[in-house]
Amino acid sequence: MNWYKTDFPSDKFNFANIPHNKITSLNGINILVPFYTDTSIIDFIIDALSFDEYDSVIELGCGYGRNLFKIFYNGGGINLRYFGGEFTSSGVEMARKLADIEPKMKAEFFHFNHLKPKFDKNLDFGKRVLVFTSHTIEQVKEIPDNWFKSVTSIAPFVRCIHAEPFGFQIQNLGEASKNHKEYFLKNGWNLNFAKTLKKANQNGDIIIEDALLEYSCGTDPFNPTSIAVWRSV
Ligand SMILES: C[S@@+](CC[C@H](N)C(=O)[O-])C[C@H]1O[C@@H](n2cnc3c(N)ncnc32)[C@H](O)[C@@H]1O
Repeated sequence: MNWYKTDFPSDKFNFANIPHNKITSLNGINILVPFYTDTSIIDFIIDALSFDEYDSVIELGCGYGRNLFKIFYNGGGINLRYFGGEFTSSGVEMARKLADIEPKMKAEFFHFNHLKPKFDKNLDFGKRVLVFTSHTIEQVKEIPDNWFKSVTSIAPFVRCIHAEPFGFQIQNLGEASKNHKEYFLKNGWNLNFAKTLKKANQNGDIIIEDALLEYSCGTDPFNPTSIAVWRSV
């Protein structure tokens, strides 16, 4: 038996066609990490929930709600209320069907469009809410100037965590940021998140609490996630 060390992206396990490593990126640089490495926004949101009192957690651009269900089952708990806004009617419909299976989870799903951010007055989110977005604003070329103000209007206290690939909009950190920017320009993906966030902060609509560039190690090396956290004034 020869013990071996793994160094190359093309290395595979002998017994199966499974790679040892995969390429991801961190701080703008492409790096090799173990194939099964997967950082998760879910754990971050669950930790964030434990550091403050919230009545509800709201994901905007939630798809079929997988993040909200994972938060519920991994520590979000039964006292919290869960809301998901999603553009596609199929996403909203599927999320509602899944939520029906779990009567202990207080969950509501509704239509939401990043391009026209409006909330039905009948939705009662509570007084203190944690909003998050995860790789959804990326799909909208330009969010409107009022996106942040509109989200602050849903409750007396709003904190929002964005896990979106906007690092290249602020700074070219390295090869990964450069490739990323080219990809977004070519595909018409989001180009104005960082600018609009900064403007909302300058206007006094929100207070930016944190911003962390290209903090990824996720499944997609070519779409590195950056983090921005803000709260209402
Ligand atoms: C990559 S998926 C991420 C879904 C979810 N956030 C997750 O992490 O599982 C992007 C989501 O953004 C939604 N989306 C795209 N354009 C949108 C828009 N204009 N308004 C709201 N959601 C939108 C898509 O329908 C999709 O559900």
